[in-house]
Amino acid sequence: MDHIITVYTENVHLAEEGPAVEIIDQTRLPNEEVMLTLSEREELYEAIATLRVRGAPAIGIFAGYAMYVLAAQTKCRDFDAFYAEFLENKAYLDASRPTAVNLRHALDKMEAALLENKERPIDEIISALRRQALVIHQEDIDMCLAISAFGLELVKEGDGILTHCNAGALATSRYGTGLGTLLLAKEMGIELRAYCDETRPLLQGARLTTYELQKAGVDCTLICDNMASLVMKEGKINAVFVGCDRVAANGDTANKIGTSGLAILAKYYNIPFYVFCPSSTIDFKCCTGEDIKIELRDPREIKELYFEKPIALPEVKCYNPAFDVTDHTLITAIVTEKGIVRPPFEENLRRLFT
Ligand code: MRU
Repeated sequence: MDHIITVYTENVHLAEEGPAVEIIDQTRLPNEEVMLTLSEREELYEAIATLRVRGAPAIGIFAGYAMYVLAAQTKCRDFDAFYAEFLENKAYLDASRPTAVNLRHALDKMEAALLENKERPIDEIISALRRQALVIHQEDIDMCLAISAFGLELVKEGDGILTHCNAGALATSRYGTGLGTLLLAKEMGIELRAYCDETRPLLQGARLTTYELQKAGVDCTLICDNMASLVMKEGKINAVFVGCDRVAANGDTANKIGTSGLAILAKYYNIPFYVFCPSSTIDFKCCTGEDIKIELRDPREIKELYFEKPIALPEVKCYNPAFDVTDHTLITAIVTEKGIVRPPFEENLRRLFT
């Protein structure tokens, strides 16, 4: 099957002249399409922390490339010094965002590649790191395609799909996860209707999801987050499709703030709620959602970021958690690259992935 032309098929990649990582700056979308070439430690960290690159899988891919780029700049000539420097960079990038486990998984894979080649000269270790970063990226491309194809089993012509945040090509590779099925369906001539939550406060749904779907020719309608209940009640929604940032062993799922509320609404209206999850997002070390660290972000994002003038007095307190955890009992199925996993999630996820 031909691959669909999503807008940025490689929105994170190695620069041709490098070593550097090239990304589309997601904070500038949809109004400006700006590519950034990054190679400094601080700018690599900043790109993740400020969501220039965002979405759990894309952060993982970016981290792999970033570790290679930093390693390629080393002045160390003996392994111990090189490894110490690598670990310092790893810890530094790992602290950029806490919730998406893809970041940690990618960093660990890079370290494993380094250790497998520890007897080789430094230049060869650096080449091995480059190869590993490309493998992480390729794996994500493959996982996204497989997940999107499994998702086709969950839809039929004319279905209305509610989305939250952005789980498309920008957040991953090529098709994306939560949006991948909508893109694949389009490619196959199956018309679906997407209802996209704007996703306060950083508006990934409005700025990124509708941007991707509109460009791909998928019928999409933007709604404010507080309209979800109404569109469900009006019968416009046949299923909810969301991505995830960390899935605990029992199926509890961290995703963009507001996801758990949608799951509760979906249960009330008897609408299936699907989580699209590459295995790079499963964390068997977290037994339940209680173990998942939720990122707290700057209150100014709520009050100021997307407004011409602040919408509240400077002294007003804000609480700005970036994610919430959806209880596994609210999830109809978890769509992975190895198939659609239904409850009991603990048993079925372990059977497929350990
Ligand atoms: O804060 P963000 O924009 O990085 O949050 C992203 C999400 O919550 C996505 O739904 C998740 O990372 C899955 S992307 C395939």
